[in-house]
Amino acid sequence: MNAPRSETADPSPSWVRHPGLRQWVAEVAALTKPERVLWCDGSQAEYDRLCDEMVRAGTLVRLNEKLRPNSFLARSHPGDVARMEDRTFICSERAVDAGPTNNWIDPREMRGTLNRLFDGCMRGRTMYVVPFSMGPIGSHIAQIGIEISDSPYVVANMRIMTRMGRAVVDWLGEDGDFVPCIHSVGAPLAPGAKDVAWPCNEEEKWIVHFPETREIWSFGSGYGGNALLGKKCLALRIASVMARDEGWLAEHMLVLGIESPAGEKSYITAAFPSACGKTNLALLIPPPAFKGWKVTTIGEDIAWIKPGRDGRFYAINPEAGFFGVAPGTSEATNPNAMKMLHSNTIFTNVALTPDGDVWWEGMSETPPARLIDWQGKEWTPDCGRVAAHPNARFTVPAAQCPSIDPKWEDPGGVPISAFVFGGRRSSTVPLVVEAPTWEDGVYMGATLGSETTAAITGKVGVVRRDPMAMLAFCGYNMGDYFAHWLKMGKAVHHPPKIFRVNWFRRDTNKKFLWPGFGENMRVLTWIVDRCHGHGQGVETPLGIMPRFEDLNWRGLETFGTERYAAVTTVDREDWRAELASHDELFGKLGAHLPKALEGRRGRMHEKLVA
Ligand code: OXD
Ligand code: MN
Repeated sequence: MNAPRSETADPSPSWVRHPGLRQWVAEVAALTKPERVLWCDGSQAEYDRLCDEMVRAGTLVRLNEKLRPNSFLARSHPGDVARMEDRTFICSERAVDAGPTNNWIDPREMRGTLNRLFDGCMRGRTMYVVPFSMGPIGSHIAQIGIEISDSPYVVANMRIMTRMGRAVVDWLGEDGDFVPCIHSVGAPLAPGAKDVAWPCNEEEKWIVHFPETREIWSFGSGYGGNALLGKKCLALRIASVMARDEGWLAEHMLVLGIESPAGEKSYITAAFPSACGKTNLALLIPPPAFKGWKVTTIGEDIAWIKPGRDGRFYAINPEAGFFGVAPGTSEATNPNAMKMLHSNTIFTNVALTPDGDVWWEGMSETPPARLIDWQGKEWTPDCGRVAAHPNARFTVPAAQCPSIDPKWEDPGGVPISAFVFGGRRSSTVPLVVEAPTWEDGVYMGATLGSETTAAITGKVGVVRRDPMAMLAFCGYNMGDYFAHWLKMGKAVHHPPKIFRVNWFRRDTNKKFLWPGFGENMRVLTWIVDRCHGHGQGVETPLGIMPRFEDLNWRGLETFGTERYAAVTTVDREDWRAELASHDELFGKLGAHLPKALEGRRGRMHEKLVA
């Protein structure tokens, strides 16, 4: 391999005491051949300098300092706007360990491809070394990653989304373990060539995981989960493998706290597929009738959950920031999010107002008369295009969230009372059901389905099975993952109760029946009551459901029993079709499907025909 084109053979600063880390960085530099290597210390000065450089390069637009202090807008390449599931690979030694729901390529073949792609891919660019911790530094639940990237946009976002910089290297010491994460936008610069605002590779994009060696390689994209490798790649795909091997859970779940007026505090986690309003739920403000109740936020996307000594599960949010979908966020739908975004935020692919602020569909009922859209073009309300991309994002420090929980950085995590699974279903699935047993709950999670939205697939309203909301994020065989969940129910003396919710049922005119947003508090308080043994409900073939009188209707008296019936009825015909569609997923998993889940399906079928 050629030596890196940096000032010295080993450009690592003196605070890097880990010979293995120094050597790995030198090897990557030798392969990718950057112009220079820069170790990120994570300081504010470094962040400010990078942002200034990106403003000069046209990658970022500085927003109006008065309206949106210390905030920026980035516009991506129009072909690089979302995670790419079809370009995401789990390269385990054996195909069967990736399972039928993941893309797999033989690791030897993949390494050959990666060596070809990464050879010289950083020419003319700076190679940044980004040490980061998923979880509070020093927590026994946290994991360290080192991301190498040639994108300053990635560095700035990683500083918001993770604990990043020198403190992580200090904690790593001389021989700590880290997950190596290599990222390149795949756009080397020829000498003297002018750069573009959003470099990426238009032909090739690869997001590759080697679960046995716990490595991540990503090529060609600069966007979100494809490039911020701590998030979906490390905190879910690689961490799910660690969790299987070490006896814990790495889940695509928000974590929130609920405090009663008497000061009784409970924490619940909730898994929803993308585009089901996870950030809205995690930042929920209780309706006025719930005087004295508080909802607090630990995290809005990912939870790492470990058995604690007292026989309960404890969860941390491994992230330090939120990478949320902007369109649809407003004072009406999520006032906490709007407050949180007042400053220190990077917006990507939203529209720019004439006074240097941001706008997106749904932010206000009446759009501004003129905007610059997410592609940098003049926009007016009648131009026939959206102003913000449907997957436009904000990256914001979690500490700015008005509802952030005082324990959100507790290294020991918070004790979990309930796991909730939810999807977007316009029919069939009732408002809320409690699983009678852990196994029934695992069945509920395993068969989670959600209707697709235009933002995800372009096809609207097709039910996609998304087990535990982990279809795109489980780093191993989905059947083995279900077996792991079944096993984890026995790893603690007090396993949380499991519930399934659906906020999205519609009437015959396609109108949502349930008001959602803050009103979801009515369901959350029933869940918490059930966990503490004082909520009422009735047995149904699907599990335990609240009757109308079991929910708190103060402030929503107009909802009435008829509408309640419409959001809770269990139509046996619909459910027979639903169970048949569970078979499709189960059939794919073959011998890896745990018998206990097949058995649950059979029992539910019997109950429905009885
Ligand atoms: C996300 C997702 O970006 O789940 O969080 O797609
Ligand atoms: Mn997510």
